[in-house]
Amino acid sequence: MKKSILVVTGSPRVGGNSDLLADAFIKGAAKAGHEVVKCEAGRKNIMGCKACDTCYSKGKPCSFDDDFNSIAPLMEKADVIVFITPLYWFTFPTQLKALIDKTYSFIIGKKEQNIKESMLLVCGEEKDEAVFDGIITTYERIANYQKWTDRGQLIVPGVLNKGDVLSTNYLVLAEKMGHNI
Ligand SMILES: Cc1cc2nc3c(=O)[nH]c(=O)nc-3n(C[C@H](O)[C@H](O)[C@H](O)COP(=O)(O)O)c2cc1C
Repeated sequence: MKKSILVVTGSPRVGGNSDLLADAFIKGAAKAGHEVVKCEAGRKNIMGCKACDTCYSKGKPCSFDDDFNSIAPLMEKADVIVFITPLYWFTFPTQLKALIDKTYSFIIGKKEQNIKESMLLVCGEEKDEAVFDGIITTYERIANYQKWTDRGQLIVPGVLNKGDVLSTNYLVLAEKMGHNI
C-alpha cells in the first residue's frame, strides 16, 4: 500500500551524514512507490513552545509565526514520520526538538493526526552505542504517547565528519529501511 511518508531531518549541515542517510532512505521508499516529503527541520527557524495554549485559535497552528506553521500541514497529512538526525549532546538537535515540542499544538488544537507509524535513524561521533540511549528512549516514549507503531531504528555510530557514513554499510541499510516500510 502506498504511504505518505514525512522524513524530518535534524542536521543544519548540508550534505552531512544524516542528510546522506535521509537521501538513501528516500531512494528506497520512492522505489517502493511511496510518496515522500523531506522536511529539513535542522535548517528551519523554529522557536521553542511558549506554552500559551492558544494553538489553532488564531487561524494558524502556532500563534507565534515561525517555520513550524508551514511544517504542521505536512504533519497533518502524513501516515508515517521518519526522524533522521545527528545526535547532539545525547539527544535531538535543538531545531528538531523545537519542532517536536510544537506538536503540542495538535493536542491543544484537537487536530486529528494521520500518523500511525514512525522510525528513527540517528548518527553520532562516538563508537559506543550506549551513548544513543537518551535519544532512543525519548523517541520511544514519544512514539508510545502518540500511539505511533515504531517501524524501526538505525543507530549509526562512529561518524564525525561530513561524508564519514560513505565508507560504511549504513546507507545500504537506510535504503532497505525505506524500501521495506
Ligand atoms: C553540537 C553538537 C553536539 C554533538 N553531540 C554529540 C554527542 O552527544 N554524541 C556523539 O556521538 N556525537 C555528537 N556530535 C557529533 C555529530 O553527531 C556527528 O558529527 C554527526 O555525524 C553529524 O551529523 P551530520 O553530518 O548529519 O550533521 C555532536 C555534534 C555537534 C555539532
